[in-house]
Amino acid sequence: MGKRNKITVVGAGNVGATAAHWLASKELGDVVLVDIVEGMPQGKALDLAQAAPIEGFDAALVGATNDYAQTANSDVVIITSGLPRKPGMSRDDLLKTNAGIVSSVTEEIAKYSPDSVIIVVSNPLDAMTQVAFKKSGFPKHRVIGMAGVLDSARMRCFLAEALDVSVENVTAFVLGGHGDTMVPLPRYSTCAGIPVTELLPKEQLDAIVKRTANGGAEIVGLLKTGSAYYAPSAAAVEMTEAILKDKKKILPCAAYLEGEYGINNLYVGVPCKLGARGLEQIIEISLTNDERIALQKSAAAVQELIDVLGL
Ligand code: LAC
Repeated sequence: MGKRNKITVVGAGNVGATAAHWLASKELGDVVLVDIVEGMPQGKALDLAQAAPIEGFDAALVGATNDYAQTANSDVVIITSGLPRKPGMSRDDLLKTNAGIVSSVTEEIAKYSPDSVIIVVSNPLDAMTQVAFKKSGFPKHRVIGMAGVLDSARMRCFLAEALDVSVENVTAFVLGGHGDTMVPLPRYSTCAGIPVTELLPKEQLDAIVKRTANGGAEIVGLLKTGSAYYAPSAAAVEMTEAILKDKKKILPCAAYLEGEYGINNLYVGVPCKLGARGLEQIIEISLTNDERIALQKSAAAVQELIDVLGL
């Protein structure tokens, strides 16, 4: 591989393979797709490489089975490995199995790409990001969790539909853990700069908030054999792009908090500025009492998982 950026995607399942697809089609860099399943990452990488002449992207696509030497010196590593949710299963049911998987993957990444920025996508998201943080020994600005971009994209999608406007006109704001306790904030969500609280009745906003918090489960319920992957992978790729292009883009991400929002030593979703260093700044905004209580509740739910894992 040459002078292009190098991005490793660990896990060649639906989220990982679709992330590789977006990364390549946006020409963000060369992509190494790793999985434990023999042949699968190689097959998907080769297939995607053969789409390049048609779609017109130049990116090397390499598949590897458990061979992390091929991932060496990646700029960004996206970890998607782990079991997905099945219907009726909560993200937390996955806790211990996925903690083991994320932990062993992180060890390899830290060994071969010691300067990389790690973006965690595996569930339960906030806890798995904390596992990667602890296991890698990386500074907190180089271990970030994807969740808020996905959750706010879902909210933007629902708001745009309700307002009958372009999704590009709508911004949305979601704080907290990636779980049932997440905190979508209509007050900070806008359509062409206008707070949506001025444009939609409270009942409709309440319904959108609820649907957003339930967004992952809604898709699991429809798919039955797995969970969402188009939007989750697109979200991880938006974060990757912000880092590789040093965009200083403000995106909601899971970040390690040390006192921000009154939360300590815990990964929770907050607005973050992403640039070449990874997480460059945590943005603190003022919250109403109710919002603060909801965020504390969400953080407490993440803390419970961390306690179970003994981290
Ligand atoms: C979701 C799962 C992947 O939100 O957490 O779709």
